[in-house]
Amino acid sequence: MAPRNVKTDAKKDDADMSDNLDKKPSKSQTMWGGRFAAGPSVLMQAINVSISFDQRLAEHDIAGSKAHSDMLAVQGIISAKDRDAIHAGLAEIADEIEAGTFPFSDELEDIHLNIEARLKDKIGDAGARLHTGRSRNDQVATDFRLWVRGHLDVFIHQLETLQSALLGQAAAHTDTIMPGFTHLQSAQPVTFGHHMLAYLEMFARDKSRFEDCRARMNESPLGAAALAGTPYPIDRDMTANALGFARPMANSLDAVSARDFALEALAAASICATHLSRLSEEIVIWTSAQFGFITLSDAFTTGSSIMPQKRNPDAAELIRAKVGRIVGALTSLMIVMKGLPLAYSKDMQEDKEPVFDAFDALELGLAAMAGMVADMAPNKDALAKAAGAAFSTATDLADWLVMKLNMPFRDAHHVTGAIVALAEKQGKTLDALSLADMQTIEPRITDDVYRVLTPLASASSRTSYGGTAPSEVEKQVKKWQSILG
Ligand code: ARG
Repeated sequence: MAPRNVKTDAKKDDADMSDNLDKKPSKSQTMWGGRFAAGPSVLMQAINVSISFDQRLAEHDIAGSKAHSDMLAVQGIISAKDRDAIHAGLAEIADEIEAGTFPFSDELEDIHLNIEARLKDKIGDAGARLHTGRSRNDQVATDFRLWVRGHLDVFIHQLETLQSALLGQAAAHTDTIMPGFTHLQSAQPVTFGHHMLAYLEMFARDKSRFEDCRARMNESPLGAAALAGTPYPIDRDMTANALGFARPMANSLDAVSARDFALEALAAASICATHLSRLSEEIVIWTSAQFGFITLSDAFTTGSSIMPQKRNPDAAELIRAKVGRIVGALTSLMIVMKGLPLAYSKDMQEDKEPVFDAFDALELGLAAMAGMVADMAPNKDALAKAAGAAFSTATDLADWLVMKLNMPFRDAHHVTGAIVALAEKQGKTLDALSLADMQTIEPRITDDVYRVLTPLASASSRTSYGGTAPSEVEKQVKKWQSILG
């Protein structure tokens, strides 16, 4: 749900705020103000308020309240009539939020108090019974867990879409030859399909990290109350079940104060964003005029306002950059949580914004990357030309010397180096060098060597499991096709 327009009176200028500090505050209007004679200062309210961002939890807050009130009624803690009134009121509130007409208020601090106050306005006393046997501490922990869990499900689905896009490119290019790099220097020829599958494997691990995280976090804090549990005969299994949790959390102190589920989700998001940034970087390099390895369509490029010839890979650059704010969010929440004593502390209100921001960024990045991967068109000629350049089959020559002449690899490496130097001097690729010239360096070389000196032969020879040979890539493509469907 997009953040709604919330008036943030608290953001008035400083002079205004300090004026208010001296003012005699009015009698407390807050939900918790029973023992307070006066309302909070403007500054107190400014630092305390979270409704501008935690309204994103509204849907989950309502789901939690429905589950809680159902349970209270079944357990005989509230009447069925009150439960029905609560449900009807919450349904109206959900509609108001959906329609953008809900009167969000800074004075009511956060989403929990905003919804509860609105419910009381609508249904009176029954609304005031909803908060029996629970606290905002277990409430916010539950809402936030549900929000994070929902996003993990989105990422898992998005990663499958991205994997399918990569698989589509891999299947179409099992034997498209390109240079493989180490140190970003041409190393050995590989297949474009193999390169795509490398990312598919990374994203498969990212997906399994999100799945692991989801399984571990899927326990319900609801019913832990403020920190110690509650004397009411609540049924925590019932509420856990209603909210799709596997079980209730086993320790009430832990339930209200654990945020490692969010940290773990951010850690998994950070790793995933790192992988996205690596693929983005390759796309930026590959689309450059100097490389020309792939072309992106108008859909995923932008023009320059001054240089008419330009086609910039902005989407790739922005995805490459998103990792900054995502890792920043992980760092931010790590530091918020560091050193916090049990159980709940208000510090934890600072858990949401970094997660919201990071997850928005990742969601957009994953979607844009899937679109870009499906969009990119490899330029086979440029890839093949680059694959043959820079003596990329030198290792194949050395391997031939080892396999055919029984030469120790170190000696073969040395001989190959001399042949490369000769080719370089003549301005030729290795497969264009004459046999006579090669024999001046190693007389036992025969013309069988040419079999291994083309980039395609080089790649095709690498048939070890997980290797780049088209035959191996085809096997991996088939495997992934049966997994991804
Ligand atoms: N807005 C609060 C948060 O996000 C809700 C919990 C407040 N609990 C309390 N004891 N004041 O953490």
